[in-house]
Amino acid sequence: MVDRMEIKPDPVCLADFAALARTVLPPRVWDYLDGGSGAEVTLGGNRSALDRVGVVPRVLTGVSTPSLRTRLLGREYAMPVAVAPMAYQRLVHPDGEPALAAAARVADVPYLASILGSTPIEQVTATGAEVWFQLYWLRDRSLVADLLARVRAAGCRALVVTVDVPVLGRRLRDLRNSFRLPPELVPANLPGGRDDLAHGGTPGVTPVAAHRDAAFAPALTWSDLRWLGERCDLPLVVKGILDPADAVRAVDAGARAIVVSNHGGRQLDGAPASATMLPEVVAAVGDRCEVLLDSGIRSGVDVLRALALGAAGVLVGRPMLWALAVGGQPAASSALALLAAEVRDALALAGCADPASARRLRTVPVG
Ligand code: FNR
Ligand code: LAC
Repeated sequence: MVDRMEIKPDPVCLADFAALARTVLPPRVWDYLDGGSGAEVTLGGNRSALDRVGVVPRVLTGVSTPSLRTRLLGREYAMPVAVAPMAYQRLVHPDGEPALAAAARVADVPYLASILGSTPIEQVTATGAEVWFQLYWLRDRSLVADLLARVRAAGCRALVVTVDVPVLGRRLRDLRNSFRLPPELVPANLPGGRDDLAHGGTPGVTPVAAHRDAAFAPALTWSDLRWLGERCDLPLVVKGILDPADAVRAVDAGARAIVVSNHGGRQLDGAPASATMLPEVVAAVGDRCEVLLDSGIRSGVDVLRALALGAAGVLVGRPMLWALAVGGQPAASSALALLAAEVRDALALAGCADPASARRLRTVPVG
């Protein structure tokens, strides 16, 4: 086997981790994390939309070293970046979720733990990271209540409800590859996890889709969200919003933050890029809640773009799995350090002393 830390040269941008990850991951695992749904139009649109955003820099502002510090949900973090919730992290590296959470702790950014994590949540919070727990709504409400109590006891700081998965998007790569989870990998936080589903197989249904259908409720409404908001004393974050009217409803239902997201192009293919919808969402909610963005963020310049379009911060998905795959916690730490350096450069080049000033920059089409 390739010694993962012997790979040279060192990455100088997040895309370099992708190239390395591709060499260490089995092709089917690479496809599961890299792929989107359907024809992957939305997956590509996330990048092209961000690439079109030109940020107009300000000059002679007297800034040399910007501060990246950012308040999210009432706590201060090192930069306006969090690690997106992603399922089954032991698929890409044996150290899995605790390694990525530890990297988030070192970088002083939030780690969002997926309910489909392959490590018990208590082992994730034991890393000392600021963990926000991401929930897919379980079919049985009493199990939701039990899980909330467990997550609370484990020391999670926020509850993130992902609302863009009423069914799993059709991931054609996974279907073609007959993608299965390896036997040793189980969803460690699902009560009655139906592990058999992850390892067996039904033609035309991937195990991730089978789990979704067996464990999670399909037809949620805003009243379910309100029910949750009333029972949970952790700050509530709603992830997977694109329509400004839904953003307003989420705030009305108790959300302290929302994540404008198309799930990295993995759910409704043909949905617009998150960056395209962000300005309308920000205009609709004003300062009633914090607005985060994900889907396609790959550099410090992308973080600057998101801030200039009105976001309070971003979630980064696949690049964190690339780095984890390449070298566990040390590589994930390097990726976050690299991103921090890029954000600092981008802010300085735009003449901004901090993330808040970036939100006052103008954006125009780049070309
Ligand atoms: C995800 N995402 C996701 N989201 C979520 O709320 N719960 C989950 O369990 C998962 N699982 C998951 C697995 C994998 C392999 C990927 C790539 C993504 C979506 C994730 O949180 C985020 O919205 C996107 O990944 C952001 O886009 P980028 O940064 O990957 O382009
Ligand atoms: C995914 C699910 C698990 O995107 O959210 O694979």
